[in-house]
Amino acid sequence: MRRENFLPEFELKMANTILIGAQWGDEGKGKIIDVLTNKADVIVRSQGGNNAGHTIVHAGKTYILHLIPSGILRRGKVCVIGNGVVVDPIALVEEIQHLRGLGVKVSKNLLVSNCAHLVMPYHRSLDEQRELRKGHAKIGTTKRGIGPAYADKASRTGLRMSDLMQPIPFAKKLQSKIRENNSILQALGAKPISYREVHDSYLAAGVKLRPFVTNTVVYLHRTLQRGKEILFEGAQGTFLDIDHGTYPYVTSSNTTAGGACTGTGVPPHKMDRVVGVMKAYTTRVGEGPLPTEDRHLADRLHALGREFGATTGRARRCGWFDAVATRYSTMINGIDELAITNLDGLDEVDPIRICVAYRLNGKRLEVPPCDAVQLENCEPIYDQMPGWKQSTASAKKLSQLPTKARNYIKRLAELTGAEVSIVSVGPTRAQTIFV
Ligand code: GDP
Ligand code: IMO
Ligand code: MG
Repeated sequence: MRRENFLPEFELKMANTILIGAQWGDEGKGKIIDVLTNKADVIVRSQGGNNAGHTIVHAGKTYILHLIPSGILRRGKVCVIGNGVVVDPIALVEEIQHLRGLGVKVSKNLLVSNCAHLVMPYHRSLDEQRELRKGHAKIGTTKRGIGPAYADKASRTGLRMSDLMQPIPFAKKLQSKIRENNSILQALGAKPISYREVHDSYLAAGVKLRPFVTNTVVYLHRTLQRGKEILFEGAQGTFLDIDHGTYPYVTSSNTTAGGACTGTGVPPHKMDRVVGVMKAYTTRVGEGPLPTEDRHLADRLHALGREFGATTGRARRCGWFDAVATRYSTMINGIDELAITNLDGLDEVDPIRICVAYRLNGKRLEVPPCDAVQLENCEPIYDQMPGWKQSTASAKKLSQLPTKARNYIKRLAELTGAEVSIVSVGPTRAQTIFV
């Protein structure tokens, strides 16, 4: 939703921004967040957990953020882990320590919602067991316990950050949760979880996290009242959304723009723009349909050392740009602006294919079918464009890109139905073109 038209342009540009992944995750959100953070005051995560892996390359160092918003690298910014995130307290403490080891300040610049649900060791174990039992039909999860943690939340049986802050009631609730989950784990043939170990390690993590835990809804509203600007950092991508993604090959949260409201307690009318991040091609990690998947393109990108997962290290599946998917993404998220990343990944590719529609049972489809099996059976209809066959990595302005690369970007924007505001030609801040 945009503010009134009479507001000057610069104010619109710095407005409250939701940033989401427009494809299957790993679009380069971390890099774009880091760039946009320059103008924001507060950066907030609203969903997902440490299944995310957001990479930022700065001053010769590579940082991979899993739970902490990517804004943490810039001084003077406040980062918030909102109520919609599922937090593994042990993983969060490790991430804080790791960042501090790299010289990043993490103290009053991080807040964690007291309503955020906890990821527990039995969630991780259940995630693993369910995947094992599914065999070939597995989802290919990150095994971080995300699905079972959100399942507990929806079943109203989860433990939250506020529970962890109250050791005596926490111990009681934990005892009953461990009992219940151990009987499920035993039935699945898995090792039971030790109550004592979980109790001690979680409460120790709780002590370390106490200074960060607060009512983040109130904090965010006060921030808005003071005229500060918030950047909402999406995790995963549109087609991993629990409602709109390629179900059941999805994650367990709303990765689309709406999730930014429910996951932070900031109402829709406070949002000013939505930025969709998408690669100049398509990738997916894990199982599930990927209509434009192309083995040759994957081999080529992997040979360049690209497209290996930031969280699990798995090789990402790769394919041609899928405009059916990104057009639908624009619809669901209300994308105003696009950030196109990894243009340089196509530098030596010629010709370049773009999927403009699908064919299913002889019919042309302009939107992806809801059913994963039908989507699996969709045959992409391709347009072809000539490659530019030269490096784009040092381009600082659109005019420094080869004409064929500019034409390619223009075509992606036309097909997706949104304006391009950023083109990224490399992992660093400097390799960013503002359009
Ligand atoms: P995220 O999960 O959306 O934040 O993306 P990931 O960090 O998991 O994966 C994106 C990868 O692409 C990371 O290794 C980034 O450093 C890298 N990256 C982002 N933008 C660009 C780009 O324009 N060019 C190149 N070469 N790498 C990029
Ligand atoms: P970022 O934020 C890419 C995928 C997993 C799996 C499915 C379900 O870095 O873009 P889960 O562990 O969430 O239950 O796994 O979702 N997945 C991601 N793929 N990027 C991510 O995050 C992902 N987070 C989860 O591979 O297919
Ligand atoms: Mg990632």
